[in-house]
This record gives sequence, C-alpha cells and structure tokens, in this order.
Amino acid sequence: MQTKRIKIKLGNISDSGNSDYYREYRLALQEAALLLIKGEIVAFPTETVYGLGADALNEKACQKIFAVKGRPADNPLIVHVAEISEARRLVRDWPETAEICALKFWPGPLTLVLPKAPIIPDIISAGLDTVALRMPSHQVALDLISAAGCPLAAPSANISGKPSPTDGAHVWQDLEGKIPLILDAGNTAYGLESTVLDLTGEIPVILRPGGVTREQLSAELGRVEADLAGDRDGPGLARPKSPGMKYRHYAPSGEIILLEGELEEKADKIAQYLNNRKTGKKVALLCMQETFDILKAKIKQQPDLLYFFGSQKKPGEAASHLFAGLRLCDQQGIDIILAEGMPSEGIGLAFMNRLHKAAGKR
Ligand code: TXA
Ligand code: MG
Repeated sequence: MQTKRIKIKLGNISDSGNSDYYREYRLALQEAALLLIKGEIVAFPTETVYGLGADALNEKACQKIFAVKGRPADNPLIVHVAEISEARRLVRDWPETAEICALKFWPGPLTLVLPKAPIIPDIISAGLDTVALRMPSHQVALDLISAAGCPLAAPSANISGKPSPTDGAHVWQDLEGKIPLILDAGNTAYGLESTVLDLTGEIPVILRPGGVTREQLSAELGRVEADLAGDRDGPGLARPKSPGMKYRHYAPSGEIILLEGELEEKADKIAQYLNNRKTGKKVALLCMQETFDILKAKIKQQPDLLYFFGSQKKPGEAASHLFAGLRLCDQQGIDIILAEGMPSEGIGLAFMNRLHKAAGKR
C-alpha cells in the first residue's frame, strides 16, 4: 500500500480562515475523513502522541488497527470525541466525577474509563464492560473527528511494543506502506500518552499516569488512587485493570540502564560506566543538561550518542523528548542506553512509568 503523508503547518491554520493554506488544510481533512468513513485507518496528531484512527463504531475498521500495529486483541482502544455530549452518548453512566473532569481537563490529555454503551463494538473494549474516552486538544485531531462525523478509536500510531510516535516522521518509520494516510503536524506537545483514569469505582483510580498529573486530579476530585501494578513486568500481574499495562512497551532495541538518585551520585555512576566501558558496544547517554554540566569534567570517554532530554527546570518539556530519544538510539544502533530518571512527581510520574516499562526488568 502506498502511504501519503500530508504535512500541516499549525501556525498557518489557526490564524486565518481565508488563505490558500487553510483551503489546502480543509482538503486534507476531507481526504482523511473520507478514508475514515470508508472504513480505512489514518494516522493523525494529538497533543500527546500520534494516534492511528478508525471509525469507532465500525468494527471492521477497528480490526485493521489491531492488524497493522500487531496489537494483542485483549488490549482495548481509547475512543476520541470532539464534544462532551458525544462522550455521554457512548457510556451508560456519566457520574459527577466525569462531568468535573471533562469540564476541567477536556480537551486535554486525560482519558476516562466508564461503563460502555451497547453502541461501542466489543473489539474496542476488548471484552471489558467499560470504554475509555478522551477529547484531545490538538486542533487537527478535533477537526478530523468533526470532519469524519464519528468518534475515532485510536491507539498510539506505532508498531506495538515500540516507543510511541511524537513526530510524523516516527509514524512514517513504523507504518509507511501499511496505512493510506498520515497527517503530519510535526512534534506533539506532551510527548507522553494521556492519563487513564478509571471512574467506575467509588474512588477514581489512575491506571496510567500521563499529561494530567495526579496532583491536578486530586485538586478537583479529592482522593485519587494509582493502580500502577502493571508498571513492571512480573508474576501476578497477568490481569491488571488496564490490560495495556501488562505488556513491555516503549522498548528500544538496546539495553536500558536507568539512573536514579541524587545528581552527584548519578553523575558518578555515569562517569564510572563510561570510563570503564568495554569497546565494541555502542553506548548512548540520555540525560538532563544540568547533569551533563557536572559530568563533563569526570568523563574520559565520550558516549557514542549524547542526547539531552532538556532542563530540570522544565520537566514537562524534558519528558516530551523521551520517546524521540529512545527512537534515536534505535536508529543509531545503540547497544546500551544510560538513561537518567527524574523525580516521580507531577509529570515525572508518567516519565518514570514509561522509562521503567522501556527498561523492562533490567
Ligand atoms: O494519549 C493517548 O492516550 C494516545 C493518543 C493517541 O490519544 N493513545 C494511546 O492509546 O496511548 P494506547 O492504545 O496506546 O493506550 C491505551 C491505554 C492502554 O493502556 C489500554 O489498556 C487502556 O488505555 N485502556 C483502553 N481502554 C480501557 C478500558 N476500557 N479499561 C481500562 N484501560 C483501558
Ligand atoms: Mg500505545
């Protein structure tokens, strides 16, 4: 299959409704919408990561998502809507907590798990009695849902197991030749997937940390628990509440060595590793700018790849560069990845969740 990639310049579509560029943009949306209506699948940007979308009410179209990604059938999909009223139509129950979350955090990187309405095909919920819903804030995502006239089921647009795509180029790497169309609007803002929040019980439970932090949720909802049991692979975790969490994810080909602790301590560990490393293995260092500033004087052997997440002062921005860094390691054939952690608070909880999963048990 030939894959078409349409580049979209975001700055050009928001400011003027009467330009040639805006007309081109609307044509691109129509083309994508037509494919979706016909039951094809299309990759599109969201503010978190790129999604691989299908008409959520078309079972056959949703099957294609699983086939193309190589996704296990027991891993349910998130359904994306452009309006709160659309979300209400897809569930049997819309509790007060859902209303609060939708008004406060939608559109945005928060996914709500609620009892599913019969209209949702079983393939989407992977046999569960619930459905995961989200209203993304990316303009292209919202426009595409509206143009298609249906909710869009969309997992991250990567091959299952690989780091999620935070750039159109990443989608191209994984899915070129496998899908008809990629809407490419460049980098995504958050670079980590949405927070998945289960609202079916008495107390809201975070099943996957993400762009909306636990602290932000608690401020609105009071007590919020986190069920991150699926974070690390291991026995007894065969049936976590969020089935996707049991799989090894975000995994580059190289081995990840995760560095946590105080700044000086981390810098010492990295220096020791680099200075004593065996030849023949390609080593990457993924770290914060500040850590490298301390480290510089201590290392005698440079890593083969040096990649900065960003600055400790801007954890959100640093977190958004994680997946791109892991993908770069694969492109450069890196064997060993020294990856610096960050404190597990705010967006750091999601960052560390992904890094732990990428590292597997090592
Ligand atoms: O930011 C995001 O959420 C991105 C963009 C494209 O919206 N999507 C995304 O989808 O990350 P995916 O399929 O890669 O991850 C969906 C997660 C999985 O961990 C899955 O198990 C969980 O949501 N999930 C989906 N439906 C669920 C349900 N009914 N109950 C519990 N967990 C569910
Ligand atoms: Mg995914």
